[in-house]
Amino acid sequence: MSDGVARDGLKAGDLVVVTGGGGGFGRALSLRFARDGAKVAVWEVNRDSGEETARQVREAGGEARFFPVDLSQPAEIEAAAAAVLDAYGAPYCVINNASIYPRASVLDMSGETFERTLRVNVTAPFLVVKAFGRAMIAQRRGVVINISSTIAMQGAAGGANYASSKGALLSFTKSLALEWAQHNIRCNSILPGVAFTAQPLEATSAEELLERGRRTIPLGRVGYPDDVAGLAAFLASADAAYMTGQGLAMNGGRVFVP
Ligand SMILES: NC(=O)c1ccc[n+]([C@@H]2O[C@H](COP(=O)([O-])OP(=O)(O)OC[C@H]3O[C@@H](n4cnc5c(N)ncnc54)[C@H](O)[C@@H]3O)[C@@H](O)[C@H]2O)c1
Repeated sequence: MSDGVARDGLKAGDLVVVTGGGGGFGRALSLRFARDGAKVAVWEVNRDSGEETARQVREAGGEARFFPVDLSQPAEIEAAAAAVLDAYGAPYCVINNASIYPRASVLDMSGETFERTLRVNVTAPFLVVKAFGRAMIAQRRGVVINISSTIAMQGAAGGANYASSKGALLSFTKSLALEWAQHNIRCNSILPGVAFTAQPLEATSAEELLERGRRTIPLGRVGYPDDVAGLAAFLASADAAYMTGQGLAMNGGRVFVP
C-alpha cells in the first residue's frame, strides 16, 4: 500500500540558484551541484567573482550563468528572479548563501549597520524565496537551503548583528518548512562552524585560522567549502526526502563552551 507522498530529490537538468555564488562556499556549492548534473544560476554582487564561478563551472563541463544582484536591494532581487524564471523556469533548489559580517561591539555598532546586516542576511533570503515561491509550488517539488551559522546558537561578541541575523534565518527556515511542506518543498538550514573562506579571514590571518582549527576543533581542523557543499548536496537529494525544518550543524565536533 502506498501513502501517495512523493520522495523527491535533485535530478540532472534541475536548476539550482546559489546566492553569494562568487564566495568561498558559493563557488564550492556551484561546482558541486553542477557536478551532480544541475544547471546553476550564480547570484553575486561582485561581478568578477560571480563570473569566475560561472566560468569554472562551464570549464568543468557544467552549465552556469551569472546574474548580477545586490541582495540589499529588493528591486534587484525581483529583477534577477524574473530573469532566472524567464531563462530557465522554476528552480528546483534555492540556496541562500550570501551574507555580510560587519564587526563591532554592541556599543560601537550603528543602527544602520545592524539593519543592513539583517537586510542582506535575513530579509533577502525571505524576498528570494518569495520571488521563486509560486513557480516552485506550481512544480510541487523543491528544496530551500539556508546557510545559517553555529553562531546562531552560541552568539558572537563583536557580532551581535550577524548572530541575530543567523538566528532569525534559522527560525525563518523552520517556519517556511511548515508552510511549504504541503507543497512538497523541503526547507533546511546548515549551521557551519568556522571555515577557511574570505569571511573569517576579514578578522584573522590564515595561519591563526588554521591554528585555531588545530587547537579548538575536535576533528583538528577548520571546515572547508567542500564540507558544506557535500551536506547541501545531501539535503537536495532524495536521501533527505524525509527531512524538513532542520538546522544541521557542521563544525568538526566543536560544542559551545560559554
Ligand atoms: N566561512 C565561515 O567560517 C562561515 C561559518 C559559518 C557560516 N558561514 C556562512 O556561509 C555563507 C557563505 O560564507 P563564505 O564563508 O563563503 O563567505 P564569502 O565572504 O566568501 O562569501 C559571501 C559572498 O556573498 C556575497 N555577498 C555579500 N553581500 C551581497 C549582496 N548584497 N548581494 C549579493 N551577494 C552578496 C559576497 O560578495 C561573497 O561573494 C554565509 O552565509 C556565511 O555567513 C560561513
